[in-house]
Order: sequence, then C-alpha cells, then structure tokens
Amino acid sequence: MSKPRVLFAASEVYPFAKSGGLADVAHSLPRALNTDCDLHVIMPLYQFVDRERFAIVALGEHFDVAIGGVVYPVELYGCVYEGLDYRFIYSPLLCDRDFLYGPPERGYDDNALRFAIFNHAILALLKKHTYDISHLNDWQCGLVPLLIKDDQTIRTKTLFTIHNLAYQGAFNSSILNEIGIDAKHFTMDAIEFYGEVSFMKAGIAYADAVTTVSPTYAKEILTAEFGCGLEGFLEHHKNKLTGIINGIDAEHFSPSEDKALSVPYVDLRGKNSNKNAYLKEVGLSGVKKPLFIFVGRFTWQKGMELLTEVLGKMAPKACNIAILGEGEEKYHDALKRVADKESNIHLAFGYDESLSHRMYAAADFLLMPSLFEPCGLNQMIAMQYGELPVVHHVGGLADTVCDYKEFNTKSAKGYGIPFNEPSPTAFLNAIDQALALYTNKAYYNKIVKHNMLCDFSWQESANSYRKLYDNITQESSHG
Ligand code: ADP
Ligand code: GLC
Repeated sequence: MSKPRVLFAASEVYPFAKSGGLADVAHSLPRALNTDCDLHVIMPLYQFVDRERFAIVALGEHFDVAIGGVVYPVELYGCVYEGLDYRFIYSPLLCDRDFLYGPPERGYDDNALRFAIFNHAILALLKKHTYDISHLNDWQCGLVPLLIKDDQTIRTKTLFTIHNLAYQGAFNSSILNEIGIDAKHFTMDAIEFYGEVSFMKAGIAYADAVTTVSPTYAKEILTAEFGCGLEGFLEHHKNKLTGIINGIDAEHFSPSEDKALSVPYVDLRGKNSNKNAYLKEVGLSGVKKPLFIFVGRFTWQKGMELLTEVLGKMAPKACNIAILGEGEEKYHDALKRVADKESNIHLAFGYDESLSHRMYAAADFLLMPSLFEPCGLNQMIAMQYGELPVVHHVGGLADTVCDYKEFNTKSAKGYGIPFNEPSPTAFLNAIDQALALYTNKAYYNKIVKHNMLCDFSWQESANSYRKLYDNITQESSHG
C-alpha cells in the first residue's frame, strides 16, 4: 500500500514559532509519522520566523484569496528541516505581526480574518495539490473542513484535533461575509455558538474524524464541567471523537543529548551536577533540599490561583522553588509579592526554552496544579528528566502520571504525586507527601530512575493516528 499524502496544518510549529504545547506537537508528531506517510507541515510565515536560519525560500506559487469582496495576496514558501518538508503561507495581514495571536491579554481584533485567510489559502493549496488527508489542529484551522465540504472538487479527508477546547475562536457574527463563509452555515448544528461564529465548531461539525490529546480529556469534554459549552455538540459528534495521548520528542527532550545542558546526563550523579549548576546560576542555596519547579503559561487553566496561594505556605518548608513563565499580569504580580519576601524562591518571567531545559534537568519535583489539562507535556518532560510531577489528577495528567503509592517497577508508566481536588489544601498535602518522600532518598531515587527509563515517545500514538488516517480514507473508498 502506498503512503498516504498528508497535509498537517497548525498555527504554530516548533522551532519556527511557539507559544505552547501545540507547537511541540506540530513539530514532533509529523516527525514520528514521516516514515509512514508522505507528509507536509504547513503554518503561517510570521514575520518573526527566521527565514535565513531555516533556509526558507519562496516556492514560486501565488494564490489570491478572494473573500468578502477583498483580494488577499498569498505566497507559498518552503524548507526542509530535520528531513521533513515544510510549507509556509505568507500573506501580509496574517503574518506581519509581532505576536502569534496578539499581545497576552489583548488578542488582535482581526484574528478571525487573519486565520480565515490561512484557512482559505490551505483550501487553495488543496485544489492544486492532492493530499489524501488534511490533519487540522485547533480553531485556527477549523474552517478548512467546512470549506472542503462546500467545495465538492477536493477529495482530501479531514482529521481535526482539539488541543484545548477553552480556546474556540468565537467571533462576532458580523464577520461571516468578511471571512468568506456562506450564511447557510450559521446554525446551531454548524458554526453558530451563542450568536457568535465558532471556528472550533466548524472543525468539529465538518471533519471526517475528530481527536483530542488524551483519552481522559476526550471523556471530560462531554461534561458540562470541561465542555466549555460544547458538551452537547460534542456528544452529538462523539462517534467520530477519540482521545490519543501526546508524546514528546525523544531527541529534543533527552537528558543525555540535551545541548542546553552543560552536563548532559544519564544517571542521578549527572542530574545532581545540573542541579548544582542551576542553583548557582539563579542564586539558590541548599543542594540537599528538594527543588520544585513550575514552567508554563500564567493562566487560569494552569492552576495559577492555587499556585499563588500555596506558594507562601510552601516557602517556609525545607525546599527551593523556581518558577518560569509569562502570562496574565495579576499572576506576575501575585508571584512577585511572595517571591520578594522569600530567599528560596526564584522567579523568571518570560519565555526561555533553554532555561526551561536547565530547570527540568535540575529539579526534583514539577508542580502542575492545572484546573484542566487536555494533555500537558511538562509532566512527561519532567519524568524523562528524572523528577516526580505533583499534578492535579485531570485530563492528560491523569493518563500519564500514576500515583507513587502504587509504584511498580514492572509498569511501563511514569509515577508522581497526583491530587484529586483542585484546592489549596489538597495541593499542599501533595507537596507535603513530596517532601516526605524525598527524605526516603533510596525509594525516591528508585522512582526517579524508573521515570527516566519510561517511553514517552510518539511511537504508539503515531500508530494510532496512522490507523485513523487509514480508517477515514477507507471510509471514502467504500462510499
Ligand atoms: P500548554 O500548551 O497548555 O501551554 P503543554 O504542557 O502542552 O502546555 O506545553 C507547554 C510547552 O511549552 C512545554 O514544552 C513547556 O516546557 C513549554 N513552556 C511553557 N512556558 C514556557 C516558558 N515560559 N519558557 C519555556 N518553555 C515554556
Ligand atoms: C494545549 C493544551 C495542552 C496540550 C497541548 C498540546 O495547549 O493546553 O494540555 O498538551 O495543547 O496538545
């Protein structure tokens, strides 16, 4: 059987542009699928993408996207990176910006039009080139399945992956014409969502298959607690919905090959050298004390209320705490207020890939009190780098982190300290368990060594995607 031709579309792909885990997935999943599929990854060519570094060149293909009576010029670019073929859509309105989606807390108000251009440009590409599958990620690609259904001439099958239902791309309905969508789709069982136009709903309604990034989240989003208002709609489409857990890139997140570390390591002695180096770098003292880290976006989703509340109570305990992230100002302020008073807390504001790797290498525990977590990558990275994640037992965290109290050397799963209630008391209790466990160093080390040997790669999940690709293309050949 010949390899399926796949167009894999996302609004961010590491290392070209990244704001979160979507970029990691859009980098590493296609890499894992590449041997079995003939695959192109496509994203917008934002002005901050380093064209020179990645040898990104114009491919000499132009499409005019004509929507709402306006013509938007589009140009196709490409490069080969790590053996994978990339395509980039360049259109000034979509790409000539300083941020992906707008400054934090203040998105660009023309994002609907920007990403509609991206979606229409993908459609134009699909008309010129044959792909068996279009794999579309999150709301920024949500219109593509709808546009394909409207077109009739394009034979590609569509898979839509939800990375985070909380971001739905819902916009004022007055933009329908401007974004080139026929008003006939503005109904409750299609793209209308409480009077607005929802890109996410378009993806769910019209794709041939829908996935989300963990089996538990696939179940959770059918409930009012996690469904973000779409639980009923998803229930209606649940026959085509599955949860496939994310992996992490085994090369990029490998402590033994990590170029960001002064001492790449395979054992606990090497890890300890990294801890020493990092504590020195950020001015924390006490290598014998457990180091807790938090890396992530400062948003409600990540349990920032819990973290900021618990931080002050944690600080007097015998530990060090290091936090890296950026996001909402109120959380910056709250973290700073506590950290300013404590000598064992180090705060780094901003986005710093290399620093995050040094932190994973140094830490003993990762804090991840997310209120909801579609998958989460940090906890897998943390376990691979030899630490135990302290996690709220939810979504992908529930699927990837087993309770250390049930530690079993024969299991292929990673272990950490899950807590059930997203309350400060339960979170603090889990931190106390971590501190107690750390005093039993022999046992703690045994779990760490186990976690480091676990397989968090894409292998198995890439096979599941591959099977899904086959299923939806076979459905088409049967009628
Ligand atoms: P989400 O996509 O919801 O933000 P994930 O856990 O899926 O969460 O992925 C987050 C990714 O982004 C991880 O690779 C994590 O290490 C990285 N990351 C998040 N914030 C930062 C930061 N401030 N600096 C460096 N890396 C970060
Ligand atoms: C989203 C989710 C996160 C997931 C990532 C990649 O950003 O918040 O849980 O790991 O997408 O799928």
